Amino acid sequence: MTAALLTGMTTARLDAIDPARLPALLRQMPKAELHIHIEGSLEPELIFKLAQRNGVTLPYPSIEALRAAYAFTDLQSFLDIYYAGASVLLKEEDFFDMAWAYLGKAAADNVVHTEIFFDPQTHTARGVPFETVIKGLNHAVHRAHTGLGVSAKLILCFLRHLSEEEAFATLEKALPWRHHFIGVGLDSSEVGHPPSKFERVFARCRELGLHVVAHAGEEGPPAYIHEALDLLKTERIDHGVRCLEDADLVERLAETRIPLTVCPLSNTKLCVFPTMADHNLPALLDAGLCAMVNSDDPAYFGGYMNQNFIELFAALPQLTARHAYQLARNSFEASFVGEEQKRAWVHQLDAVFNAG
Ligand code: ADE
Ligand code: ZN
Repeated sequence: MTAALLTGMTTARLDAIDPARLPALLRQMPKAELHIHIEGSLEPELIFKLAQRNGVTLPYPSIEALRAAYAFTDLQSFLDIYYAGASVLLKEEDFFDMAWAYLGKAAADNVVHTEIFFDPQTHTARGVPFETVIKGLNHAVHRAHTGLGVSAKLILCFLRHLSEEEAFATLEKALPWRHHFIGVGLDSSEVGHPPSKFERVFARCRELGLHVVAHAGEEGPPAYIHEALDLLKTERIDHGVRCLEDADLVERLAETRIPLTVCPLSNTKLCVFPTMADHNLPALLDAGLCAMVNSDDPAYFGGYMNQNFIELFAALPQLTARHAYQLARNSFEASFVGEEQKRAWVHQLDAVFNAG
């Protein structure tokens, strides 16, 4: 898989690229986004618009007051506000509007493919039927293909602060819509909720032929990454940045090319790293890992895909055109699409880097 994808650009050719071209290349290069929570794309403006449309009272008097509350100290301080923001989503058209807004931003950033997380339990717990959620999201996903030229797929996430029994109940509700999502993930409060808690439900999902991913090693220890791989048999790790604390784990991830869906702005806003200059993405790439850039919850963390790339490269001058190419290439390699489609996107990527 990787050898075929690697043909095209040589290291020497990438190293010859004028560094002045880098910001434009970061914006123009085609890329895949594999770690985006659709509820995390809900901008304050849309939160207020939907609140008004649905007669929901928000605990913030204005858009500015809501935005001012986005000063997070850790994952939980963010999740409390994120779940409150999602309370305005009630009808199918609300889910459509949210996803359509994100997909437009993705297209503008030259995201050609996106695998979108959604949290059904956040909505079904408030009495919103699963059907309402999936129909609204699916409508936007389909329209994106024709209307925006963006390929999009959905991944259902289980909330790990809830029980495995509740995850099974959610899977039951989702089964009639099995062909509307390609896989399952695991998100929400990490520490204290290890992957082992969800071993059986993930086994069932694999039996059903679903792809499996999980957040691990964001705030949680490297042991959670081992558990996600050993017990849940995940095909990717979401975040995974704490893997560098465990040399054996790094070797394992490098050998198996298990991708890490890294989210730079998220990691700085949630204080996983003190500043962007402290981010370990250069070290992850140097270790030969299949890491790439994603936005996680762009409405809350200060930017979508290209903003993540621009801020990352601005803060870490050792990152060059070679790294930019590698990150985009890794995003295609790690995606859940066929090999032919991956090759086509890598050819597009090569064309951008070869131009000029
Ligand atoms: N849900 C939304 N964003 C998340 C994150 N960064 N970690 C865990 N769960 C999330
Ligand atoms: Zn996430």
